[in-house]
Amino acid sequence: MHNLIGDVSSAARILPDLDGETLFIRNGKGAYLWDVQGRRYIDTALGFGAVLLGHANERVNAQVAIALGDSAAPSWAHAREHAAASALAAHTGALSKVIFTNSGSEAVHLACRAARAYTGRGKIAKMAAGFDGWFDDVSFGNVNSSQACFSDQQRPSTPRTTLLRFNDFDDVQRLFDEDPDIAAVILEPMLANAGCIMPAPGYLEHVQKVARAHGALLISDEVLMGFRQSAGLASHQAGLDPDIASVGKAIGNGVPVSAIVGKAHILAGFEEGRVQRGGTFSGNPMACAAVMSTLDLLDNADYVQLIARGERLREAIVDIFRAEGITVSTSGYGNVFSLWPSPQPPANYAQALAFANAEFSTALHLALRQAGLLVMPSVFGRLYLSFEHSDGVVLEMTAAFKVAAAKLTARFAAGRPAPAA
Ligand SMILES: Cc1ncc(COP(=O)(O)O)c(C=O)c1O
Repeated sequence: MHNLIGDVSSAARILPDLDGETLFIRNGKGAYLWDVQGRRYIDTALGFGAVLLGHANERVNAQVAIALGDSAAPSWAHAREHAAASALAAHTGALSKVIFTNSGSEAVHLACRAARAYTGRGKIAKMAAGFDGWFDDVSFGNVNSSQACFSDQQRPSTPRTTLLRFNDFDDVQRLFDEDPDIAAVILEPMLANAGCIMPAPGYLEHVQKVARAHGALLISDEVLMGFRQSAGLASHQAGLDPDIASVGKAIGNGVPVSAIVGKAHILAGFEEGRVQRGGTFSGNPMACAAVMSTLDLLDNADYVQLIARGERLREAIVDIFRAEGITVSTSGYGNVFSLWPSPQPPANYAQALAFANAEFSTALHLALRQAGLLVMPSVFGRLYLSFEHSDGVVLEMTAAFKVAAAKLTARFAAGRPAPAA
């Protein structure tokens, strides 16, 4: 009898069987994962973006092990928590106050609570089809939900959440004209979980400006994008000035940790005890050790080189498919990007829905998996590169793509008969 529902605790981990076999991972190191049969794969899911330094980084793991040896749960204030907060705040500019949590969803939840407490308003506006975690308020309007695509005058809302159309400039003003109860807009620096949809030039700044003009805060959800393009916040790199940011994933290299960072006056309610926070495991020693050692390594990491390597990989992938008569495009950045079976990547979610082809994405996942490369099977999946994805690993990846593209050509090349349903 199977006791674990669907074999996985998070639905994001569900994979199709290959040759009747379910994939179970045994271990990982650097850019690679091994399954229980001992087969090796290059990993591009990387803990859904958490593992930026590569799997099982020795320096991070050593510090986490020491923290575990010192007590996993010391209950009271401990030195690592202070040091980790200082290390994080050293990278986040005006967002100088820190509260640690455990998962990205928790951090977003706390950020939304902070915004409601500060403004006295009830609603959070999130990007339709954005993914800001799986908690009730913000999972409304998630990618693939029935609310994620809507027309004017039909904005889906609950008493606590309302939606904005990403990259639609007019929709921002319209939202604030319609609704005076918005505490904050939460946005990602790109709509990553809907397939790395890039912001139109000036769009993010426009959202910030309109939100501010109406007394609402800006929350930058950087659980996925924070510390990915540089050792700091993606919103700051994009020229934004958020009031609060949620970070997670890359700050702990796969060890469960997340945080909110915010401006001191915005988070004062927590400091003064007027707003609740908690969590048995929030700011635990292993998480804090992971943050300190990860940030230390990221400070000396060559992001420019990594992103350039990924950009070359993106171009190579497009060329490989073109040689097989299949048109694809990519969106995002060199170390986090999506692949589209379309001549151009989508500029908004409506286009993303039109371009998505589940049959293509599943077939590509299976063909690459057979060739030793693990990519997400979803139509909006992303490929991540870690600092362990060296030129040599990227070369192996292009070889796997060549094998997979050759397999897919019979079904997906232009001019071929439509695939069987
Ligand atoms: C932008 C963003 N926000 C929040 C979350 C939720 O984080 P977690 O899965 O750690 O709860 C994710 C997870 O993928 C994310 O990408």
